[in-house]
Amino acid sequence: MSATTRKARVAVVGCGGWTQGWHLPNLAHRTDAEVVAVVDPTEQPGVGGCVPSICAPMPEVAAKYSARWYKSIEEVLADNDELKLDGVLCAAPHQVHAKVGTAVLEAGLHLLMEKPMTADTTEARMLLDLARSRPTQAFLLNNTANWQPGTVAAYEAVAAGKLGAIRHVNAVFAAPLEWLFGGDTWWAKPQGSMVGNGFGWGQLSHTFAWIFKVTNLTPKAVFAVTQASEKTGADLYDAITITCTNGATISVTGVGACPDKGFKVLGNWIFGTEGMMSYSGLAGSDNVKISAEQVAAEGGKRATPHLELWRNDGTHELGPPVEFEHLDQVAAPGSMDAWLKACLGQEYFVGAGPLEGLKSVATIEAMYRSAQSGQMEQVRGCEGLEASMVQGVVVH
Ligand SMILES: NC(=O)c1ccc[n+]([C@@H]2O[C@H](COP(=O)([O-])OP(=O)(O)OC[C@H]3O[C@@H](n4cnc5c(N)ncnc54)[C@H](O)[C@@H]3O)[C@@H](O)[C@H]2O)c1
Repeated sequence: MSATTRKARVAVVGCGGWTQGWHLPNLAHRTDAEVVAVVDPTEQPGVGGCVPSICAPMPEVAAKYSARWYKSIEEVLADNDELKLDGVLCAAPHQVHAKVGTAVLEAGLHLLMEKPMTADTTEARMLLDLARSRPTQAFLLNNTANWQPGTVAAYEAVAAGKLGAIRHVNAVFAAPLEWLFGGDTWWAKPQGSMVGNGFGWGQLSHTFAWIFKVTNLTPKAVFAVTQASEKTGADLYDAITITCTNGATISVTGVGACPDKGFKVLGNWIFGTEGMMSYSGLAGSDNVKISAEQVAAEGGKRATPHLELWRNDGTHELGPPVEFEHLDQVAAPGSMDAWLKACLGQEYFVGAGPLEGLKSVATIEAMYRSAQSGQMEQVRGCEGLEASMVQGVVVH
């Protein structure tokens, strides 16, 4: 069978709410992928995760997707002569990402890792260095926002110098997630070596991966003040100031408890020496799917938000619609497309990889340290990252 007609043989590690609700249905709809192994140590997965209510027991999951159930990544890799895997998708809790990721990369397979890449800066740096030593393998992060057409257009505009040198970024991300960070979940308490847990690891990992992909800035120091859920201690409100290695600054607002209207609120503004950019609107299930009829019924008062560029030379560009996280259960995100292309030996786009992963992990870890110390904290683990890795389309 040729590389273009065969199906990628993949294993999915961690079969809780996100995997059963999104990854497995997405994979099942594809004609270029075959799930041959599902991995979870527990018979009843997803307890304490994002949506335990939709989680079936592992024997049912394995039967539904015609895959074999394994209890660990080591058991899967030990069987790989028979399984003949091309790639592994990891959607286990943050604190086991490094262990799974290391095993997958060392086994020579293509990896799609959930965000955050890890929740530990030392582990994140180790994963980046491991990925650098294996340039023929894909290591993609499931920061799905980074593959949205608007994000790609923003990245290309900045890379083409349309904004000049980036001097400041202002980002707001607000989500109705008090049930997750104020609830009885592992998302609300530090696990393993994590310094803090809550909206930072859970959601700002999307915002930071977007900022670092689009701007290629490298964080240097972080000052943060956070407010916690009284019930769990998880951060629900984050006010963050970041300085970068080139002197640019980033200001981020995170809100984990806003009114639930079925969407998240997104505001990303980038200011450069030659112009500014806005990628702001509503993100989530209702996202930009505000119909033309609805806009008309509201007297045209609300327009669908798009990427916008204003330059000092007076020019203005309107780009693709603003979309952020990918929550479709039928059409797979661009990250999954890219990972499966890598598995099949095809060209793919790196929306988020270990570079954005490390910068995001290091920034969030410094955010929690700063919130605890009351001081500006130096970002660790990002030494020598400038101009370090291929960022666009990769051909293996
Ligand atoms: N990209 C997104 O938009 C998005 C959305 C939701 C969740 N996520 C990410 O997905 C991951 C999982 O989140 P969730 O809420 O589905 O978690 P969950 O707790 O529902 O599921 C995780 C599963 O992993 C299993 N597990 C634990 N240790 C394991 C190991 N060593 N090997 C294999 N499996 C192991 C658990 O038993 C559990 O069933 C997190 O990292 C989260 O950030 C990403």
